[in-house]
Amino acid sequence: MTTLHEDCQALCAHYRSGRGVSRLMGSLLSTLGLRRPVLVRGQSWLKRSGHEEAILADWPVQAPIIAISADPDISEVSGWLVQVAASGADGLVAVGGGSVLDAAKLMAAFTPDNWRPDLRQVPESVAVLPWVAVPTTTGTGSEFTPYASFTGLDGRKFSFDDRCWMATAVVHDPALLVECPTKIAGPALADALSQAIESIWAVRGSALSRERAAKGLAALARSGERAYSGDPESQASVQWAAAVIGAGIAESRTTAVHAASYPFTARHGIAHGRALAALLPGYMRWTGSRLTPSIKALICESLAVSDWAAGVQRVCELLKSWDLVTSPRDLGLTEGQLEALVSEGARADRLANHPEIPDAATLSSLICGGETGGDLVNSTV
Ligand SMILES: [Fe+2]
Repeated sequence: MTTLHEDCQALCAHYRSGRGVSRLMGSLLSTLGLRRPVLVRGQSWLKRSGHEEAILADWPVQAPIIAISADPDISEVSGWLVQVAASGADGLVAVGGGSVLDAAKLMAAFTPDNWRPDLRQVPESVAVLPWVAVPTTTGTGSEFTPYASFTGLDGRKFSFDDRCWMATAVVHDPALLVECPTKIAGPALADALSQAIESIWAVRGSALSRERAAKGLAALARSGERAYSGDPESQASVQWAAAVIGAGIAESRTTAVHAASYPFTARHGIAHGRALAALLPGYMRWTGSRLTPSIKALICESLAVSDWAAGVQRVCELLKSWDLVTSPRDLGLTEGQLEALVSEGARADRLANHPEIPDAATLSSLICGGETGGDLVNSTV
């Protein structure tokens, strides 16, 4: 069986991995023929940490910088596109978490002329700029997925889905993970965990996507706690795991857990992975009896547990070790606020990809708790 690192190498023709490799960007840019790349990054951490200076030191030219807010909405895109066009950029290097990588995908494909905020697909025959993904969190897998998630003008979360903007090159540098703030690292790990489990049980999953997700899930279960505590070797391992899980979810797509999570982020600014952490255990309890024995066994085996109840418990342990809550009722929202999120999270396409489509009463129980929901959320089976 191939290792996670070998899988990453196989997934991208221009893959670089290793401590400090992000400081050797000059040779990669030269290989890609990029002379005027733009640096896309988050608002502050990269600059404050000193990594930005080190990364840019090896660039051929002084790079224009575009800063992305923590959870950007679609109205911000046109401003980025104007900046890219004004710089005359021939490519992009995106250094950051999921939002930064997703923003780079839009900047690679759209221009001020072909962009409209109500677009949901990339127009045909656009010339996509080459771009380099340098993730600084261990979780979204965005470097190997065709998705780019944003909050729309109506306040709802949605995802672009287009393979035209898959990253041209991927750089995994564990040195960038070391100082990742825990409020970002924990939710990112939970995102990878949920993606892995959803990818295994997704209706649209294939043997390959399940194999990738299972391998990644096993690494998360093995190294997730140590990675969060700052152990460099474990951080490198879970970064590969999250990336390979991302490649799996690119094929299998997400299910009801992700669907339910989006309104928590769009309406209340709750970090994506934090919302998933609160939802996943309840969805696992409800979904367990609806899985085939082989799917259930694959998830249990990957989590290194003997049965489903122990699997749910292991997932809760992991989430708690990442300082996350494991019930929607612990997210600090009122009952009325939770109720308002139920129908919004019932996206038909994602629910149809769940092993069994939860009905309205089940969704309400899973999100709001209450008498039945309390059973679903708190029981150990
Ligand atoms: Fe996600």
